[in-house]
Amino acid sequence: MTKPLMAYVNNGFVPLDEAYVHIEDRGFQFADGVYEVVACFGGAYLDLEPHLQRLQRSCEAIAIDLPKSLDELQALVQQAYAKNPFDDAMVYIQVTRGVAPRSHIVKQKLAPTLVITVRELPKPSDEKLQAGATGITLPDIRWKHCEIKSIALLASVMGKQEAVKQGVDETFWLDTQNHVLEGCATNIFAVIDGKLVTHPLDHQVLGGITRDMVLAAAKSVNIEIQEREWSLDEVGVTECMMSSTTNAVLPVCYINQQPIGNGKPGAVSQKLRNILLQQLEDLRQSCA
Ligand code: PDD
Repeated sequence: MTKPLMAYVNNGFVPLDEAYVHIEDRGFQFADGVYEVVACFGGAYLDLEPHLQRLQRSCEAIAIDLPKSLDELQALVQQAYAKNPFDDAMVYIQVTRGVAPRSHIVKQKLAPTLVITVRELPKPSDEKLQAGATGITLPDIRWKHCEIKSIALLASVMGKQEAVKQGVDETFWLDTQNHVLEGCATNIFAVIDGKLVTHPLDHQVLGGITRDMVLAAAKSVNIEIQEREWSLDEVGVTECMMSSTTNAVLPVCYINQQPIGNGKPGAVSQKLRNILLQQLEDLRQSCA
């Protein structure tokens, strides 16, 4: 018999099937919470500290007191992984403001809800890697604090639903001037005249931890970086790629049914993907 998956809920581990929060949890009623997704390879976490620091920033931004110190959280993540030791794992951490009778404002201090689950990290298929990912664009219908990793993901769910309906992998949000911002669950880059271009960090994009890895990888091989607004119809766009904890960096070869460059994974995307994959492999070996 395989062991059941275990989840951390507030003060202890329980089988995932028995892991519940109260119906008056503000996460359930108001999406009043934040989250993180961290990858783990062979027991070694990819950038756990930056993820936990971002969780702390997200909590601070909405005035939730993180219920544990970052060291305690790190220890809990390790315990959660030890109970669900997938080779390639995805650790999900969620913090909500806590449980209270439904009212927009709560005057009393609540005990925040903390949940940690671990699942197998999904892998892009070989076909996807060979052909590259595909996407569509839609006007950004999200809120004006996308730098906060909020659990209020209805717009992203709608974006993903539309992507699935149109048979593509991701929806990329556009600002009112058609600048490409980011995907529903990814950051996006273009190669324009040989330079790696991505939207600057502001309230319209999440500061992706993988985005930082991609920028560092580009720097390490002397690819010029421009963090600036850009659009798909700009002259000189030859490649696009998207990044996230769950995808590393993946070439995006068709957007709105139009090929990007020659419609095949480009040299820069592949180079950056290989650098990231090597880093993940090194990380795995460091724990072997
Ligand atoms: N999403 N932008 C958005 C809107 C995201 O939701 C994510 C991640 C990213 C990439 O961030 P990172 O490189 O730190 O994973 C960018 C996670 C994976 C999710 O919601 O499942």
